[in-house]
Parts: sequence; C-alpha cells; structure tokens
Amino acid sequence: MGYKQTYAAWQADPETFWMEAARAIDWDRAPSKALFDDNAPLYEWFADGMVNTCWNAVDRHVEAGNGDRVAIIHDSPITHSKHAITYSELRDRVASLAGALRAKGVEKGDRVIIYMPMVPEALEAMLACGRIGAIHSVVFGGFAANELAVRIDDAQPKCIIAASCGLEPGRVVHYKPLLDGAIEGASHKPDFCVIFQREQEVAHLEDGRDVDWHAFQYGVEPADCLPVEGNHPAYILYTSGTTGAPKGVIRATGGHLVALDWTMTNVYGVAPGEVFWAASDVGWVVGHSYICYAPLIHGCTTIVFEGKPVGTPDAGTFWRVIEEHGVSVFFTAPTAFRAIKREDPKGEFLKKYDLSRLRALFLAGERADPDTITWAQDMLGVPVIDHWWQTETGYAIAANPMGIEHLPVKIGSPSVAMPGYDVQILDEGGHQMKPGELGAIAIKLPLPPGTLPTLWNAEARFRKSYLEHFPGYYETGDAGMIDEDGYLYIMARTDDVINVAGHRLSTGGMEEVLASHPDVAECAVIGVADDLKGQLPMGFVCLTKGVDRPHEDIVKECVTLVRQKIGPVAAFKLCAVVDRLPKTRSGKILRATMVKLADGEPFKLPATIDDPAILDEIRTALEGLGYARTPATAT
Ligand code: COA
Ligand code: AMP
Repeated sequence: MGYKQTYAAWQADPETFWMEAARAIDWDRAPSKALFDDNAPLYEWFADGMVNTCWNAVDRHVEAGNGDRVAIIHDSPITHSKHAITYSELRDRVASLAGALRAKGVEKGDRVIIYMPMVPEALEAMLACGRIGAIHSVVFGGFAANELAVRIDDAQPKCIIAASCGLEPGRVVHYKPLLDGAIEGASHKPDFCVIFQREQEVAHLEDGRDVDWHAFQYGVEPADCLPVEGNHPAYILYTSGTTGAPKGVIRATGGHLVALDWTMTNVYGVAPGEVFWAASDVGWVVGHSYICYAPLIHGCTTIVFEGKPVGTPDAGTFWRVIEEHGVSVFFTAPTAFRAIKREDPKGEFLKKYDLSRLRALFLAGERADPDTITWAQDMLGVPVIDHWWQTETGYAIAANPMGIEHLPVKIGSPSVAMPGYDVQILDEGGHQMKPGELGAIAIKLPLPPGTLPTLWNAEARFRKSYLEHFPGYYETGDAGMIDEDGYLYIMARTDDVINVAGHRLSTGGMEEVLASHPDVAECAVIGVADDLKGQLPMGFVCLTKGVDRPHEDIVKECVTLVRQKIGPVAAFKLCAVVDRLPKTRSGKILRATMVKLADGEPFKLPATIDDPAILDEIRTALEGLGYARTPATAT
C-alpha cells in the first residue's frame, strides 16, 4: 500500500488502523478498543489494556532469542571510549536498578527525575522506571539549577537519579552541585538521590540522602516487569511554553508503544536488528523517542553519542560513527549539519569514510533550510527527509514516510501528514484556509495514540494552550500552509517560543529572568535569525529611572543572570540597553516588528504604533550588537 492508500485507510477506520498497529506490541491484557473518547475533548488510547514498556523495549527481545543482539552502543569521542550492551545485559542491568529503586520504596505512579548526560545509564534509568511503573522525568543537562528546581516542585519526585558530571568539549559540567542547589531551592525534597559516579569527576554524596548507583543495587532482588494500564503515564517531559513555567507533557504508556513502533517501520523504514542513530540528547523529546524508546521497542541497535558534530574531534565525527557502527538511518537537527558544512563545506572528511550502509537522513527540531538540505543530499547521496513534530506529539506529524513510500521531495516542506493526523490551516476565526494560504496549523481532534493526553498537574493550562482557540482542534503553535498536493510548510511559531540550535526555548521565560534584575524596569526578548543555530535570543532592557551605572555592566549581569537561571543552553549573549521599547498605543510591545528589523526584512509599520521614532533607537541598538543587516524598510 502506498502513502495515499495508507492515509485513506486510517481516515476510513482509525479504530481498526490503530488496533492493527497495536498487534506489534506484547500486551499482558489486550485493549478492548483503541480510542476512549468519553471525556472528549480529552482523549485516551488503549486505556484498558495492560502492558509494560520495559518488557516491550527489552525483555521480549531476549525471550525471542535475540539476547545477544546489541541494544545500545555508547560512543563518546569526548572520553575516547566505546562500548556495547546486548539486550540480555540490558535486561539484567535494568532489572537490577529497578529492583534497587523498588527496595527503596519507589512504586507505580511515583515520579523519578533523571538528570544525566549521554551515557547508557540514562536509558537504563528510564527503562528501570518503566519496569516498575514509576513515571520518569528527564531534565536536560544544559539547564541551570533553577530550572531543575522548578521541575522538582512540579513533578514532586520520590527519587532523583543523576550522574556526577556531564562533559562538554573542554568543560566538565558539575551536575552534583547543580543538583544540590536545585534541591535546596525547591520546596519539595526527594526521599533519596542515586548518583552515578563518572570517572571524570567523583561527587561528594550527601549522607542519608544520596546513594551510589552501584552500591545501592548490591544484593537486591531484580524487579520483574509490572504491567500497567494503557493510559498510565510513562513519563513527563517538560517543554517551553509562553511563560517561564514549563509545560509537563505527559506520555501515556500504551499509545506511546504502539505509535513509536509503527513509526520505525513506516516513517523510518527500519527493520529489527538494524542500527538507528538519533544524534540528539536524552533530555529532549527526540532523545526520548528515538535514542531510547522507539529503536529498542523495535529491536534495533541504538547509539548513545556523547559528542558534538564538530570539534569532537572534527567535522568527520558523524561519518566515523555511521561507518564504524553500520548506521542504516540517521536522525539529527539541521543545525548540526550547518555546523559541519561551515567547517567542511567541500565534505573532505566525508571522503575518508564508507557510508554505504546509510539509507536516509532525517532532520527535525527546527526549520530545515533548503541550503542545508541540498548540501546534505549532495554530500551523502541518500534521501534527506525533513519531518515536523513537537514534544507534545512525540513523533512525526508530517514526514516523507520512507517505510511506506518515498514521495517526491519538495525542498522546504516536511512533506505530508502522517496517518493519525488531520492537519488543517485555519484563519483567526477557525475557518479552513485554501491551499497556499498562510494560517495557524491545527490538528483535528483526537490526536493519535502516543501524543499528549494532557499536561501534568495542569489540565486547565492544557485546555487553554491547545484546545480553546480552535474548538475541536489541537493548536500546534506553528503557522504555515498546505499546498495543492497536500505538502505542509512550517513558517513560524505563533507564540513566544523560539528555536535555538534545535532547542525549544521561551522568550517569555527569559523576559521573566531579565525583569528580575533590580535595575531593569522593562524588557523584551526576541528570536533573531542566525546562520548556525537557526535563531538566537536577543534582549532589550529599559532601566529603572535614576539608574546610572555603566550599561556594559548591566548587560553583562543580564547575560549572566539568564545563564544562571535558565542555563547555558539558552545561548543568551545578545543584550542591549535602550531608552524605550516600541509599543502599540495600548501598550503591547511590538516584538514581531523588532524581529523584522533585526533580520533586515521589510515590514509593515503597525498602524497602532505609538511612536515610530523608537524604531530608530532599536536600529541603533541592533547596530551596536553587530546586527546591522540590510536596513529593514517600513511600508
Ligand atoms: N549540558 C551542559 N551544557 C550544555 C549541554 C549539556 N547537555 N548542551 C549544551 N550545553 C551548553 C554548551 O556547552 C554551550 O555552552 P557555552 O555557552 O559555555 O559554550 C551552550 O549550552 C549552548 O549549546 P549549543 O546551543 O549546543 O551550542 P554549541 O555552540 O555548544 O554547539 C552545535 C553548536 C550546532 C554544534 C550544537 O548546538 C549541536 O550539536 N546541535 C545539535 C542540536 C540537537 O541535537 N538538538 C536536539 C533536538 S533534535
Ligand atoms: P520541540 O517540542 O522542542 O520538538 O519543538 C517543536 C517545534 O520545533 C515545532 O513546533 C516547530 O516550531 C519546530 N520544528 C520542529 N520540527 C520542525 C521542522 N521539521 N520544520 C520546521 N519547524 C520544526
């Protein structure tokens, strides 16, 4: 069946489509049906089935006689180490860790925060939680202690599993002091912390609270897989919203298993036993879905890569990993390719490696610019597939489904809606727009299995953020269009979310931090175009009356404050002091106009602007920041 037939089959009978897909999963009790819509517009999938994530990702492959197959390859050019873990070994390690967690009182439904770098133990911790029905919440290592504290207070974990350190090129990230600071700053205190000591830095353990990863497993009984209900949360993953308070996206167990397994066959075209590599981080949704869960559920080998596309040690690292480990399908963010292209535009490094086993490259996380796609295609000689998704959905909303049919590529488009997603372009009033017209991208409810059923502790926010604007639809927060052939184009966010090097960040969150500086009266943070990272945050601050300290000092403090409060991943380095911010007469800051100015794009002078002269001040500030792009013109 081709794409059109598959999509039509889903449209005609979604229930049969998903029940059929559910057969690829081992259920302890098969679900009686796929969709549970009694509580619409909140939906659940496979709610009355009983199932275990870890069984499906690990044990069943051992039971099927594939225990010697490699499950995880850890490749760390930073520590110069590589090692492989088979499915049998993984099962034993995860069962032991799960047993130790249970022995210390972690039970079904308890939350466990995982704060770890790119080591296999991060995946083991995730799987161990799933084994006993605990709900994990992985926090990305590039966030500051304050962000971790916010997540601790929201998730209220019984336990935190962390590593002693992470490794960035040329810098050890001291996780333990960050963890201690976060626990001190949080109102909620975990019962205990498990610390995985890395040899690069052995951390001090707090008496009575911290236990050593290995020591606490000593002598405990390994845990078996505990079947849970299909709608039991497998994990919570916090993501940026409009404000500084992150949204806790919930992933329910049954739909997660079914949908991810389906994508491995149909979107990525990968068979069990093949090597699948997603070069991302376990702290992001790509890492959850395609470093940890999907490849393992599907019985593939996954790669945990601790390094960067460039500088560890060079722009040939990705090609080395692909050759050495026989990667069939590779997935990363466009920014990684832009970084490689910048260092090695002619692909000299590529020539040193044999990439003959690579069948396709998938890109996601941010807009894939045509230059990057074309370059990657020319260099690799394999299909380069842009696909569009979000933390909320957990897998692709639109893609070119390699396992079903390789559709003609339209550069600049992540191709077409996947079965399960009825994607529409709506105007402000919620009316469907014509092909080629730009509008808000919305998905007709219900969303398919594996997508978020709601937000952790925040159902009202879930309804307000996603369901209320367009009744009957899920609002994606992206704007774009669909062409005559059904190809989707993602143009921009409709909210205050920006995308920096494939990392989703909230400008509202950064504004909250800047506003906490004692000398700042008012501020605005915008995302400006950047050749490498796609976007970079840029802050403008107005000072409190009477403050006469040097502006350079205040700017430095603002930059440090964002790094301390949000983390280095915010990459907040551009900031300027201005007298006033451009506003409408009703006092709304004209952020979109500022973005156009910074990007050197023509823009329409808003009719409601209070004082157009302020734009000249912003222009001067932009020049000061080195953003004297082609002068933007107002029409
Ligand atoms: N722990 C601690 N710090 C981290 C971190 C982590 N896991 N990840 C990033 N950081 C830090 C970096 O060290 C850097 O700090 P610095 O300001 O001291 O230099 C800062 O956060 C910004 O990181 P990043 O945006 O990654 O920039 P970079 O300059 O280090 O690297 C790229 C640029 C393009 C090579 C890099 O962004 C990259 O590989 N991107 C791939 C994107 C990706 O995988 N996205 C996931 C979604 S698919
Ligand atoms: P995240 O939740 O971190 O995965 O970020 C999701 C957001 O990243 C989306 O809402 C888009 O704004 C953007 N995004 C992800 N993939 C793509 C893509 N292929 N093209 C354009 N934007 C993308």
